Amino acid sequence: MKKTSSVNHAAVLEQRIADRTVVVGVIGLGYVGLPLAVEFASHGIRTIGIDVSADKVKSLRSGKNYIQDLDDAVVERVIRKDKKLTATTDFAELSECDVIYICVPTPFTPNKDPDISHIVDSARETAKVLRNGQLIILKSTTFPGTTTKYVQPILDATGKRCGTDYFLAFSPERIDPGNKTWTTKNTPVVVGGVTPTCTRLAVAINKGIITTVVPVSSPSVAEMEKLLENIFRSVNIALVNELAQLCDRIGVNIWEVVEAASTKPFGFMPFYPGPGIGGHCILIDPYYLSWMAREVDFVTNFITLAAEVNESMPFYVRSMIEREIARQPIALAKAKILLLGMAFKKDVDDLRHSPALKVAELLIEDGIKNVHYFDPYIPTVEVHGKKLASKKTLTADYVRSFDVVVITTDHSDFDIAMICKNSKVVIDTRNATKKIRTSRKNIVLLGEGA
Ligand SMILES: NC(=O)c1ccc[n+]([C@@H]2O[C@H](COP(=O)([O-])OP(=O)(O)OC[C@H]3O[C@@H](n4cnc5c(N)ncnc54)[C@H](O)[C@@H]3O)[C@@H](O)[C@H]2O)c1
Repeated sequence: MKKTSSVNHAAVLEQRIADRTVVVGVIGLGYVGLPLAVEFASHGIRTIGIDVSADKVKSLRSGKNYIQDLDDAVVERVIRKDKKLTATTDFAELSECDVIYICVPTPFTPNKDPDISHIVDSARETAKVLRNGQLIILKSTTFPGTTTKYVQPILDATGKRCGTDYFLAFSPERIDPGNKTWTTKNTPVVVGGVTPTCTRLAVAINKGIITTVVPVSSPSVAEMEKLLENIFRSVNIALVNELAQLCDRIGVNIWEVVEAASTKPFGFMPFYPGPGIGGHCILIDPYYLSWMAREVDFVTNFITLAAEVNESMPFYVRSMIEREIARQPIALAKAKILLLGMAFKKDVDDLRHSPALKVAELLIEDGIKNVHYFDPYIPTVEVHGKKLASKKTLTADYVRSFDVVVITTDHSDFDIAMICKNSKVVIDTRNATKKIRTSRKNIVLLGEGA
């Protein structure tokens, strides 16, 4: 008769986590995965980072960091001196890992349907090496049901049983690039395992590097709570974006309105208007949920409307720019526009889905040939396959050479006084000119009414 194994795989893994002999694998070494891998390695835990990008792996192997929020010296130390973090493109190395985090992108298709192919690929690679006692934690933001309906079946097909042979959980990422106060360590994380044992193990491994870990009853609760967090932002930003357009019509300053409302000590949280939303999360996530909702004949009208308002903002900014050109004795096609700040938010180097990029695209599509940009965080920007012109430093002469200057992203190191002093017209979509506006008549503020 065939002997069944009586090994308690959960207890073995728990012990390895407790005595720090656990080996952690991180699939996807981007904004989420690399800080996580470095955090484990900094805690003395052997960590293997896996990425499909040979360039990223090459960079890490030579000790070079490419994520702005990470300290270069720490990355170099854990890789070259401590030798706790290794990087590879070879998925076979996953077999050495006791815990595997999946931190791959979750983009949408051109039609804005979810594209979870990177998650599925990662699950397939994991299945190839799956062994007893491994814990897999999905961190990529996705719709409820991804862990149990898409990842688990791939792993179960190996014949191993979830909850006894291997363990599976979802634990969303909350990293806020550029935020120096809330870091990987002090930002609480939520964890939902497929079984209570999966949750217990996922809590244990996270506790090794994160102060507060919050268990929930299932992966779907964890998946949905992440979408709630991001959709909460999307909806509230849409509200102020809509009010900003109304304020433009009635000549009321929306920024002052938000500031005044913020004096209420309860029941209000400030959100600010802008040229639109960007990055890899808030723009995409509402579409993940509305796509899933359609499967159960539910229409997320409210959430979709918020996304629509936010995505209309670059078009609104385009109309503000073209109105300012129309007020000058210059043809639209000949106008020179400078976009200040291309990253999707201040003080970060992330261009993904940036509203400034959309504004540039729209202006060029309208026949404006001279669209330049300046952004110390973004070395090159391509629109429709062509590089946008830029300069390394922002001089008064350079600013003076434009018909309209637009503050699309309010990076902290912009010299706003110099910019406003030397521009014919400044369109401020971020309230960056707040401190000097009263002394200058050449500033047009989004949400104030010209
Ligand atoms: N960036 C954020 O601020 C943030 C915050 C919270 C959640 N998230 C979520 O985390 C996930 C990852 O986001 P990110 O910003 O780190 O993305 P990213 O693009 O910065 O990094 C993803 C990495 O995965 C690699 N990759 C792609 N497919 C792969 C595969 N099949 N196998 C191995 N590696 C692969 C890419 O080369 C890249 O290095 C997304 O679901 C995102 O929504 C991101």
